[in-house]
Amino acid sequence: MANLEVINLSHSYGPKQVLQGVNLRVEAGQVVALVGPSGCGKSTLLRAILGTHPPTSGKVLVGDKFVDQPTRDVGIVYQHYSLYEFLTAKQNVAFGLMLDQTSTPFRWFNYPAWHKLRREHLQQAEQFLDKVGLLSARDLYPSEMSGGMRQRVAIAQALIMEPSVLLLDEPFGALDEATREELQLMLLRLYEENVRAREEGHVPPYTVIIVTHELNEALFVSDRVVGLSQYHKDGANGATIVYDRAAPVFRPDEPKDLSRFVEQKEELVRCIFSPNQQKDHRAFITFWTDHEKAGIAQPSA
Ligand SMILES: Nc1ncnc2c1ncn2[C@@H]1O[C@H](COP(=O)(O)OP(=O)(O)OP(=O)(O)O)[C@@H](O)[C@H]1O
Ligand SMILES: [Mg+2]
Repeated sequence: MANLEVINLSHSYGPKQVLQGVNLRVEAGQVVALVGPSGCGKSTLLRAILGTHPPTSGKVLVGDKFVDQPTRDVGIVYQHYSLYEFLTAKQNVAFGLMLDQTSTPFRWFNYPAWHKLRREHLQQAEQFLDKVGLLSARDLYPSEMSGGMRQRVAIAQALIMEPSVLLLDEPFGALDEATREELQLMLLRLYEENVRAREEGHVPPYTVIIVTHELNEALFVSDRVVGLSQYHKDGANGATIVYDRAAPVFRPDEPKDLSRFVEQKEELVRCIFSPNQQKDHRAFITFWTDHEKAGIAQPSA
């Protein structure tokens, strides 16, 4: 069973069709970069997966459940994600667990049990802050943090809920270059946890879709790149997936050698940005068939 399956999804705003026939299957542990021209419908697709804006037609499956409203199975972090200003980093990260696992009467009338649970939540919050490299900032309030730190807290806040899929919509878009690179490395470290889990026979814990308009970032942080674009034969009826291939996998301690993927970047640019309506985009949707060729069986749906 895939962590996420988008089946023949289309979306219109009034008479304007934005997305058509989007199909995408994402397995546990994949970090998928979603790229495409501005306004092609990337955020619309994420909102359908999140469940806040169900599609006009088609389905979204997370695990074995159809999505028709937001649940804790799907997390999201935006470019300008707001934290609770009156809570510290640690309290912000623990907040979702508290809401999910306790009710107000429970907190009022079963104080000892609540107190114990609260301590556990805060301990877990520390673990997740550590994963995003922010343990030492656990007692800071958002007003005392930089933009990069706030985004890390937001990501920890989403990860602690252990979502089947974490959606990141241009999460580093507002950060300066150096901070952005630090956060990219943070994602690579999370990916390493996936690799380790797989080697040890466990289900990899982090499944991510990251929207970015930076193609270098897309290829650097992901293990798979998906291109969404209106530039295809039937483009007047909305964007669809025109590119789906494996991306080179980098380790966090490896130099960020961009030259290794110049060709793939050019291929991606041609696929998603070139307004040649006649090209056959299916030739670039090869992620699962490439997998099969490499001897890795395609997981059954
Ligand atoms: N609520 C809405 N009502 C009407 N049109 C909308 C609405 N939300 C988005 N759109 C339109 O749908 C198209 C896709 O928008 P969307 O925000 O999904 O694109 P995007 O790929 O995320 O763009 P960007 O890269 O700029 O973030 C755009 O043309 C946008 O103007
Ligand atoms: Mg967007």
